[in-house]
Amino acid sequence: MEYQSRFEDWYTYSTVHKPLPDFTCETGLVLFPPELVPGVGHPLVDKLGDHAVHRLMMRKLESYNAFTEKLEYKAVMAASIKIAEDPQAFGLSEQAGREARLIVTDESHHAYVAIELIKRIPGFSELPPLTPSQPPFLRGLEELERGLPTEFADDLLIAFVAISETLITSILRGIPRDPRVVSAVRNTVRDHCIDEARHHSYFVYVVHQHWASSTPDRREILAPLYAKLIRLFLDPDVDLCRAWLLEAGLDPYDAEVVLRDYYSPERLAASIRADSFPTLKLMERVGVLGHPTARRAFVEQKLID
Ligand SMILES: [Fe+2]
Ligand SMILES: [Fe+2]
Repeated sequence: MEYQSRFEDWYTYSTVHKPLPDFTCETGLVLFPPELVPGVGHPLVDKLGDHAVHRLMMRKLESYNAFTEKLEYKAVMAASIKIAEDPQAFGLSEQAGREARLIVTDESHHAYVAIELIKRIPGFSELPPLTPSQPPFLRGLEELERGLPTEFADDLLIAFVAISETLITSILRGIPRDPRVVSAVRNTVRDHCIDEARHHSYFVYVVHQHWASSTPDRREILAPLYAKLIRLFLDPDVDLCRAWLLEAGLDPYDAEVVLRDYYSPERLAASIRADSFPTLKLMERVGVLGHPTARRAFVEQKLID
């Protein structure tokens, strides 16, 4: 696949060159779309009152921004630096390697804005810290790395980031236009989406080239790995959600009931398939799904039938 730069107008359109978004938080609006916050709207949570609902929304926004920061620092920037240093190792053009440096800059800015946003939300400074936990994607990556040949570590990181960068936009798309959500969150996500649209095209190219330039041995490992990486990125952090529900005032039994309802296997499978749809199409276009080891892995991960 030929590289087509999406970064020619980078100095004009990238959000790092713009002022910080307007962080207004209108009273009466919510911090996050309610249906994306586990427990909100559930009768057991409604019974606890508005304070509990607001606390759950704050926790969701907090974790969303903490996740953004970790993903940018630990995964996307790390992978983009590797690409910048040695584009040929992944079958990428010299220009793609040079422009990976612009992605590093974009992502560093996204991490900065994510943390600024949290600081500006009224009430966040009084929020007691929850036990810090590593996001599951980092634990998952470490686990996968232990099961792979050592020379595969860079391929694992590039594959994970390519997956996450092609998935991320579909999840973010709805929030900027959601009139229920405060301007601070809508504006921040909108700015992030503007940059991520460019990154999406870039990483579609990365997936193509990484696969096309791989030896049969590397493809053997890469094909089923993609399925695991999609699940790793999309699987919810149920332990963290449980901690929020307990903090909001549910007892452990009711918290499990709410979690079982929100993350019922059917609902979870449907939402993962919907979110991964563009990436699954990409896997098909690139030829990953045509590989003998891939289809079984994608079925096992419940991404296809
Ligand atoms: Fe980003
Ligand atoms: Fe990105």
